[in-house]
Amino acid sequence: MPASGRERLKVLIRRGAIQKRVREVALQITRDFKGERVHLVGVLKGACIFLSDLVREINLDTSIDFIAVSSYGKGKESTGQVRVLKDLDSNVAGLNVILVEDILDTGLTINYLLRIMRQRQPKVLRVAALLDKPSRRVKEVKGDYVGFTIPNEFVVGYGLNYAERFRNLKDVCILSLPPV
Ligand code: IMP
Ligand code: MG
Repeated sequence: MPASGRERLKVLIRRGAIQKRVREVALQITRDFKGERVHLVGVLKGACIFLSDLVREINLDTSIDFIAVSSYGKGKESTGQVRVLKDLDSNVAGLNVILVEDILDTGLTINYLLRIMRQRQPKVLRVAALLDKPSRRVKEVKGDYVGFTIPNEFVVGYGLNYAERFRNLKDVCILSLPPV
């Protein structure tokens, strides 16, 4: 395991289960948008691995783009202030847009993204998230396509990070840090 010192990793969702669930979500998207094109918008960086696997299982005309945001006040009382660090490359007006997130936590990030995306007048706007931690919600938001609902634990792997580390783990793992 690549954890160091007193960091501990415990597998929460195994790679096989992730793969199976990603296929199911992709099948649902394929059915929902039969005969149409879907435009996947990945929220960098956490969603990059989920999006990469998801798009390859969608049996439709697809296109992808990415947006990067930073949020402030995380960990403490979140202010919900979000800033766009990298905007989309192209216009989404009239497209079937699916925002692809790694995890829905407080809901503040996705709420902000939904707001700015709506202003750009897509035909349809939906949310796909690999993970959902509903117990942490501050802003009411519901994912249209959710991989797994998880308890209130800090998780890493399959794109999710702690201080930019652990994104490469194939399983989603609970990270325990030594007490400070
Ligand atoms: P929200 O605005 O609180 O919903 O934050 C969502 C973002 O916080 C996600 O896109 C992740 O980048 C990050 N995040 C929330 N929970 C976790 C976690 O358990 N592990 C890693 N990142 C997380
Ligand atoms: Mg994220």
